[in-house]
Amino acid sequence: MSARRMLIAGNWKMNGLCADGLALAKDITARAAAGAPRCDLLVCPPATLLCSVGEAIAGSAVALGGQDCAAAEKGAFTGDVSAEMLKDAGCAYVILGHSERRQMHAESDAQVRDKVAAAWRAGLVAILCVGETRAEREAGQEQAVCCSQLSGSLPDGADAARLVIAYEPVWAIGTGLTPTLADITDIHRAIRAAIPAGTRILYGGSVNPRNAAEILALNEVDGALVGGASLKGEDFWAIAEACG
Ligand code: PGA
Repeated sequence: MSARRMLIAGNWKMNGLCADGLALAKDITARAAAGAPRCDLLVCPPATLLCSVGEAIAGSAVALGGQDCAAAEKGAFTGDVSAEMLKDAGCAYVILGHSERRQMHAESDAQVRDKVAAAWRAGLVAILCVGETRAEREAGQEQAVCCSQLSGSLPDGADAARLVIAYEPVWAIGTGLTPTLADITDIHRAIRAAIPAGTRILYGGSVNPRNAAEILALNEVDGALVGGASLKGEDFWAIAEACG
């Protein structure tokens, strides 16, 4: 296992109304209080729940993050949320360049890079997502794709204190499929060669309580970005418990 402290991050995506989001946040906070987590814990609820979840986890070992931010600080950007607003709502992190944003909102590397710069401007840690599609993997291009996304999406001035990379193969997200452990190691090594020393690299894509221990035991893996399994306190906590 890596010497870096692991980060287990829950990406709730567009899930959760007030009552169930709050119940989930309280459940995770209670487990963290009782169980002395061996990793850093993060929940990234939808924007509507940031303030209430932030209040529910205040003073606990669980940090708060957004799922996206705008590049601009403020202004006429209907529907957008700025990095400064996330910070103001209590966030320490923001997920950027998730494949669902890259695909469904056609976000380019250049746009993602501007958002990462905005996160840093606001004092947030950027969790920058990269990952190949199934077709790209079948063509043997996974490393080239991830490295190209990285070089296009990472602004100058990156440092390990304010950057986390999440390797998320698109074909593994929400499908129950995962790359082999050797494949995860290979890609994480290629990514590590392109980023500042000490930067945490998370694996994401169908992480669950059954496969977490073997993935998190890989030297190259510094934690997990968890989607579906982060919506159940019990499962999210089981993944956190799999950290060494
Ligand atoms: P999943 O999602 O764990 O449901 O595959 C991961 C993610 O998209 O961040």
